[in-house]
Amino acid sequence: MKKVIIRKTEEIENWRRNINSEINFIPTMGNLHNGHVKLISTAKNDNSNVNLVSIFINPLQFDNKLDLENYPKTIDNDIKISFSNGADAIFIPSNEDIYPPNNKNIKLLKAPIELSSALCGLDRIGHFDGVCTVVYRLLNLIKPKNLYLGEKDWQQLLILKNLVLKKKLNVAIKSIATQRDFDGIPLSSRNVHLSKNERKLIRFFSSELLEAKKNFQKEKKINLNEIIKKLSTKKISIEYLEHLHPHTLKKARLEDNISLLAGAIRCGETRLIDHVFLMKRRPIIAIDGPAGSGKSTVTKLIARKLKLLYLDTGAMYRALSWLMIKESIDYKKEKKLEDILKDISIVFKSNINSHQDVFINNYCVTEEIRSQEISSIVSKISSIKEVRKFLVKEQRKIGESGGLVAEGRDIGTTVFPDAELKIFLTASIDERAKRRKSDEQSKEIQEIDLDTLKELIKKRDFEDSNREISPLIKANDAIEIFTDGYSINEVVDKIIDLYNEKVPKEAEIK
Ligand code: PAF
Repeated sequence: MKKVIIRKTEEIENWRRNINSEINFIPTMGNLHNGHVKLISTAKNDNSNVNLVSIFINPLQFDNKLDLENYPKTIDNDIKISFSNGADAIFIPSNEDIYPPNNKNIKLLKAPIELSSALCGLDRIGHFDGVCTVVYRLLNLIKPKNLYLGEKDWQQLLILKNLVLKKKLNVAIKSIATQRDFDGIPLSSRNVHLSKNERKLIRFFSSELLEAKKNFQKEKKINLNEIIKKLSTKKISIEYLEHLHPHTLKKARLEDNISLLAGAIRCGETRLIDHVFLMKRRPIIAIDGPAGSGKSTVTKLIARKLKLLYLDTGAMYRALSWLMIKESIDYKKEKKLEDILKDISIVFKSNINSHQDVFINNYCVTEEIRSQEISSIVSKISSIKEVRKFLVKEQRKIGESGGLVAEGRDIGTTVFPDAELKIFLTASIDERAKRRKSDEQSKEIQEIDLDTLKELIKKRDFEDSNREISPLIKANDAIEIFTDGYSINEVVDKIIDLYNEKVPKEAEIK
């Protein structure tokens, strides 16, 4: 495709009509650095859409005239960087193009006060209104499918997500983690203004935040005063340092697994921001739903794509059922059962095909636990109080440090009620029976006719939903996805988008 530079708003419309493709949009104010390069190359690698980078220094978002005048302008280099890293087109409009003086349709937008009055908004009056106004204008002109933004400006990212939601814009926001320079400071166009000494100070500030993140992982708490004290020994002028909920920007609560430690300091004329996400444990996704809803296939793919551990709790109940049959254990005798459970170990191990094998007392039962014989008793076994107590404890042990996606029937309600994302996956009985049937055909196991399968599924649903302990119910805060008519990949992508909305990319970095 021929690479183009577009300068007029009218040209944008023509270009859009001709490209015959969806658009990835990367808005910038120029003076591109490796953070922008990462945005452009991520967009390039994400899909086969056309990539458009805009370069526009938006006067509305500067609360200080001098800052606007001094903003670094490096347009020739920006064009080179954009094209060599995956941009197909660059939009470089003038002020008059973006804000035509007599166009009454272009209105000044107001950023939501709850988000814009915190952190940077306290001091930079009108800044986020300006950001919303320009991004809304650009989105209306470009009509992209995806909008790529950096997490470095986390507050801006939250405000723009809110804008997209409120204005019901049909664009997906994709974010990338803050990119840091060799010395740990976040890449920013304003870094060029820093003197050697100022750079030393911001390096100290960033390293204190990164240190606080490390300590938090161990101690699960933070002492803001201590950090402020350390910063003051270097005479660093702090504008704010706050520990907040990452999405509401209200004070962090004790129960928040992920929280935001964000600060701004002033070095000479330059104001710099940095933040880290504090995590008690790595994120957890809980996927619940009835038999045959596609949980296993979807959960496995999500685990692979997000590099999370895959916890198949159903396999644990099946493995236990297998053992009960194999060793003719009378599971109705409670006392005896408790004693037996004490000596049972269930572990998952990756095999050479990168699949997961399940072992019970060192015996690999991956294949055997999928038999109809096991299917017919697993619901009964999993309704026994002692069994559930034992396995829930084992599952929580596996999930202690997070970093997993678990599937089952009580993950979001009982096992991990504090999971970052809870999904309730479901489908019609007809669809679920059809899926089970094709599953059986592909595995060449004994075939059951479709009507019998439907009856079995109904029976299993009834048993799962009506058992006394941990029945199959949707957690209040779970998102229900009805999968009839959707491909597996569509469901997986939807869940990954939801995960990315809840969990900052930076939080995934160990
Ligand atoms: O983050 C930025 O560079 C700017 O705020 C943006 C999003 C390009 C709007 O001018």
